[in-house]
Amino acid sequence: MKIGIITGSVRAVRATEPIAQYVYEIAAQRADDNVSYELIDLKDFDVPLLTSEVHPMAANRQYDDANVQRWSDAIGACDAFVFVTPEYNHGVPGAFKNAVDVLGSEWVGKPVSFVGHGSVGGVRAVEQWRQILSNFSMPLVRAELNFNSFFHMKDGVFSPEPRHAGEVEAMLKQLEGLV
Ligand SMILES: Cc1cc2nc3c(=O)[nH]c(=O)nc-3n(C[C@H](O)[C@H](O)[C@H](O)COP(=O)(O)O)c2cc1C
Repeated sequence: MKIGIITGSVRAVRATEPIAQYVYEIAAQRADDNVSYELIDLKDFDVPLLTSEVHPMAANRQYDDANVQRWSDAIGACDAFVFVTPEYNHGVPGAFKNAVDVLGSEWVGKPVSFVGHGSVGGVRAVEQWRQILSNFSMPLVRAELNFNSFFHMKDGVFSPEPRHAGEVEAMLKQLEGLV
């Protein structure tokens, strides 16, 4: 099984990047004959706003836009996901939500877990994601990571606590168990 760790911010300088990298480094240690992890950086795909006439759920994973097609291929190749998400204005980041909206069957039925961050750990964004992704019947892992943008991120340096490595492991174990 292949699990995609999605870096869910496209800002020029992003807290999401070192957080996703941290999660990936722990995840990569778990790789074996049955499971592999891949870092999928949303920023690399330059996903355009959803304007297509065809509903993505009816697109049969074929898209006119080359960037959407690349994004579809990357997401479609995964069996499960870790969403690494900041919180913007008490909700999910718009670019990340759009990138979810432009696809359809690529998400359906695939388990997902969450790593949130923000001034209160990204909890409101993660709760919104849980509601949104239910539309794709995606099994939701209960365990999540919540990093505080003041306490765990200082001068652009991400500093997780020692307990977090074990918490990431526990979350990933639950995620793998759902695939
Ligand atoms: C436009 C914007 C809105 C934000 N709104 C919130 C918010 O409502 N609640 C919160 O806890 N943090 C909020 N934050 C803080 C971010 O969640 C936090 O800085 C996060 O680590 C940013 O991730 P990024 O640098 O990868 O985009 C906001 C940040 C930005 C840029």
